[in-house]
Amino acid sequence: MKRLEGKTAIITGAARGIGKAFATAYVREGATVAIADINIERAQETAAEIGPQAYAVQLDVTDQASIDAAVKTVEERSGGIDILINNAALFDLAPIVEITRASYDKLFAVNVSGTLFMLQAVARSMIARGKGGKIINMASQAGRRGEPLVAIYCATKAAVISITQSAGLNLIQHGINVNAIAPGVVDGEHWDGVDALFARYENRPLGEKKKLVGKEVPFGRMGTAEDLTGMAVFLASAEAEYIVAQTYNVDGGNWMS
Ligand SMILES: NC(=O)c1ccc[n+]([C@@H]2O[C@H](COP(=O)([O-])OP(=O)(O)OC[C@H]3O[C@@H](n4cnc5c(N)ncnc54)[C@H](O)[C@@H]3O)[C@@H](O)[C@H]2O)c1
Repeated sequence: MKRLEGKTAIITGAARGIGKAFATAYVREGATVAIADINIERAQETAAEIGPQAYAVQLDVTDQASIDAAVKTVEERSGGIDILINNAALFDLAPIVEITRASYDKLFAVNVSGTLFMLQAVARSMIARGKGGKIINMASQAGRRGEPLVAIYCATKAAVISITQSAGLNLIQHGINVNAIAPGVVDGEHWDGVDALFARYENRPLGEKKKLVGKEVPFGRMGTAEDLTGMAVFLASAEAEYIVAQTYNVDGGNWMS
């Protein structure tokens, strides 16, 4: 028995990385998935790779008109939305004294405003349809505590945890479960970029930071996108009906809360 049979999902930032793994797992479990990404060419490639139950949708989560258009497209194509994963995000790194307003504005626009207004648009659609739904926000261990070079990203992910709590409490009356996943360090193109930034600011050879963070994980290695799919399927399934406003760490033991 497939756990998401007949469900329709929209996953932001699903053209690559963790979102792509989520889309693949959801299709495997019987869902139809909109791969909603600012990089439409990559989203189309990913959808083609996953198969006919996946399709690409153009989405910039910082643009309200783009959010509204993407939600409408998925409603029309799939007859309603059962599941949203708010997964699109940006990362940056700088010592406090070098942080720029441009970096702050960009990260908050995608990671925080993008998450909130995407959640709002999909929640409105779910409420109008009257069948409840599941919303999963991608937080991070970075939202659990600060890091010396990662102030803005950490703050955005703390905000995602907080929004998950408020939205979870507000929307459960409509049968909409809002929860979050907090990964630790997940290997992939995202962390290639993170590694390059640490190389610059901590004067390390490329690849060294990845090795270090991997060794520090109690499980013994960095995570993979596939390590997160079990929690993403569970939180979207009927088994998670009674789970409200929580953020789950899936991080190999890095953080306990
Ligand atoms: N990789 C990790 O180690 C890690 C750890 C903790 C949390 N996370 C979180 O997991 C999620 C996925 O991470 P990932 O590693 O797959 O990242 P990634 O950088 O590989 O993928 C992000 C995707 O978001 C898309 N995107 C960027 N801006 C967008 C916008 N304005 N509108 C729509 N799409 C946009 C990108 O095109 C890309 O496809 C993010 O929320 C990230 O913060 C990742």
